[in-house]
Amino acid sequence: MIRILGTGEQDIAYAIDLLNSAQVVALPTETVYGLAGDATSVPAVSRIFSAKGRPGHNPLIVHVADITMAQSLGLFDDISLALAAAFWPGPLTLVLPLQPNTPIAPQVTPGGRTIALRQPAHPVFQSVLSAFGRPLAAPSANPSGMMSPTTAAHVCAGLGEVIPAVIDGGPARIGVESTVVQVSNGKIYLLRPGGIVRDVIGAAVGMDIVSGAPASEILASPGQLQSHYAPRASVRLNATHADAGEALLAFGPNEPAFTGPKINLSPDADLGQAAANLFAMMRQLDQADIKTIAVMPIPMIGIGEAINDRLKRAASER
Ligand code: TXA
Ligand code: MG
Repeated sequence: MIRILGTGEQDIAYAIDLLNSAQVVALPTETVYGLAGDATSVPAVSRIFSAKGRPGHNPLIVHVADITMAQSLGLFDDISLALAAAFWPGPLTLVLPLQPNTPIAPQVTPGGRTIALRQPAHPVFQSVLSAFGRPLAAPSANPSGMMSPTTAAHVCAGLGEVIPAVIDGGPARIGVESTVVQVSNGKIYLLRPGGIVRDVIGAAVGMDIVSGAPASEILASPGQLQSHYAPRASVRLNATHADAGEALLAFGPNEPAFTGPKINLSPDADLGQAAANLFAMMRQLDQADIKTIAVMPIPMIGIGEAINDRLKRAASER
């Protein structure tokens, strides 16, 4: 049975004991909850993959305490360094060439060539990292292919039978995962839209961001496979109304009339609020006895790009 920990000193010490014995612990981040394990331990990393049922070819993001720890693991070019300086700690993941002779467990890095690194902004994750002293691999704390957890209760619902503990740090502030980028040949490629929006990244370094992976990387971000974030119900996008037997996930002030189950991501059409609510509200509607979740259109502005990415994959063929 899973143990739900608080954020006090004793509970953090208990989580660190677990991590030191190659166990996994779910931890809050500012994006979504992560399932953390010692990135340098083969048994710990195996436990992450088996708890999630994650395909072995899908590499993990490694979370670091600071830029010094990051530089011991990945080879930073000037642009990546500028991005880290601008956005860390925060929801930006950088894919970098792997430093030779790192102690990172092989399953964490695809073919041992690159490593995805991020310094999370959540104070609880930060205190665990600095007390633990080693990098932590942490994918989202959900069974593979399902929606990411934004609360400790979501973690318990998905992984409660298979992991020893979760630290409850309250609901995740951002609600969608980190933005994943890779610099190649002087260009910035967007592998996954996320918590830091494209234009903000571009503005920080005076560059445009290229969508997708560099041509040299075949399936550079394997986690970007089509079907993901799948609720039980099917998902219908760009809905302007909802039918009987559906649930309505609304956005903005102009909801269509509907008497079935419905909830609004943001009645004020605030995209940040919609991102923070997205997974929790999808889960809530998924509990209702309905076949389909009808989702109103979400503008492709700012974090709307990440919301639409998650919705598109939630809606895709399973
Ligand atoms: O916000 C987040 O990023 C959360 C929190 C827990 O930090 N983590 C997260 O991890 O979303 P996960 O495993 O659910 O997604 C990691 C994504 C996947 O799409 C994976 O394929 C990609 O990052 N990735 C990991 N290592 C990579 C690498 N070396 N090259 C390219 N993509 C990589
Ligand atoms: Mg995930």
